[in-house]
Amino acid sequence: MLVASNRGPVSYAVADDGSLRSRRGGGGLVSGLSAIGPESGALWVCSALSDGDREAVRRGVGEDGVRMLDVPADVHADAYNGIANSVLWFVHHMLYQTPLEPVFDAEFRRQWASYETYNRAFAEALAEEAAEGAAVLVQDYHLTLVPGMLRELRPDLRIGHFSHTPWAPPEYFAMLPDDIARQVLRGMLGADRLGFLTRRWADAFTACCERFAGGLGDTRVGVHGLGADADFLRARSHEADVDERMAALKEEIGEGRRTIVRVDRTELSKNIVRGLLAYRQLLDDRPEWRERVVHVAFAYPSRQDLAVYRDYTAEVQRLAEEINEQYGTPGWRPVVLHVKDDFARSLAAYRLADVALVNPIRDGMNLVAKEVPVVSDTGCALVLSREAGAHEELGEDAITVNPYDVVQTAEALHEALSMRPEDRTERSKRLVAAATALPPARWFLDQLEALRG
Ligand code: G6P
Repeated sequence: MLVASNRGPVSYAVADDGSLRSRRGGGGLVSGLSAIGPESGALWVCSALSDGDREAVRRGVGEDGVRMLDVPADVHADAYNGIANSVLWFVHHMLYQTPLEPVFDAEFRRQWASYETYNRAFAEALAEEAAEGAAVLVQDYHLTLVPGMLRELRPDLRIGHFSHTPWAPPEYFAMLPDDIARQVLRGMLGADRLGFLTRRWADAFTACCERFAGGLGDTRVGVHGLGADADFLRARSHEADVDERMAALKEEIGEGRRTIVRVDRTELSKNIVRGLLAYRQLLDDRPEWRERVVHVAFAYPSRQDLAVYRDYTAEVQRLAEEINEQYGTPGWRPVVLHVKDDFARSLAAYRLADVALVNPIRDGMNLVAKEVPVVSDTGCALVLSREAGAHEELGEDAITVNPYDVVQTAEALHEALSMRPEDRTERSKRLVAAATALPPARWFLDQLEALRG
């Protein structure tokens, strides 16, 4: 069995003394696939993303069961920053803003050629590594052309593809140039089976195929709603480093205050800015919460090679500062914002959460919505966007919001903070049950069985 994804389970950095330090990769895809360890005998083909990764490839350093592809840095930059994260991510999350975007010009065509080269590098590596009849599970929007390319090279393989993002509805997908739209769909349809996180994304994909590719052909489509890994999270969140960070965080929050917690990559689709605006609205509309609540927002830098992501990170920081200046008092800092990635500190915040705020504009699943209820010490209330994939499973016991409506979101925060403890406990129990229904290991095996079956 082989897995292919842009981001792999591990990344490397060169330390001051020249040695290589490894750390866990971030994001929903890696969390989901964490279930496959080296003992599974699987080979995970991924990309060298950092200078440290490239150095690791050069030195022949690596983990068992992981092969990093070192495609030329400029080809990777075009494919990853230019096409995957500036075009395909924006299409599937419906993030473009007219009148300026999108513009598919000659530069886009040049980057598209790199995207093809990048996908071909994966297809060739997989063709070379796979045993006769092996199952290959290709992941996400970075690698949409791989199934078709691999099918041509190795008709004997069982090929699956899984999307960790939403899929755009046909009216929005139609923004892509016609030939590119068809190429993406045909690339995907090279797979025997395609997986999506929710029925809604699977249906959107099917609708796109009907409109632009003459239907699904022989390819089957299935839904696998990735859940939280309760055992791992519960054990990890009680380790010493998490306790230490909890103590520090409690200091920052102050005695006896409620917490509204969010943890995201600084990513436009996560809607962090509107979350802060909603919190400000809450402090405006409901002065009784002043001094009594703290918004703990961890916004970890993501895709910082792209100006639009850097600007977004800066805007989040600016607005948090503004709220603190506007409302803060000597003993109360209304927003505690951290932008440096720290998994142990995220778990500490999860444990302290009274309310979890998850308000994306659009999100494939959003694992944070599932993780916080599992880890929270007192059982948290969940304010959840109707546009997160997780809403399909958690909607009944969450407080649902329209992610664009900051007044409604402010009211939802008030409702969540005011929930009677016994209601909160009951709802939180049901959230945990729904959030852990399909843990990563089961999620992965289900896909594999469906592909082989
Ligand atoms: C989402 C995508 C993943 C990606 C992750 C982190 O979850 O679906 O494919 O790995 O974001 O983004 P990054 O660009 O840092 O890999």
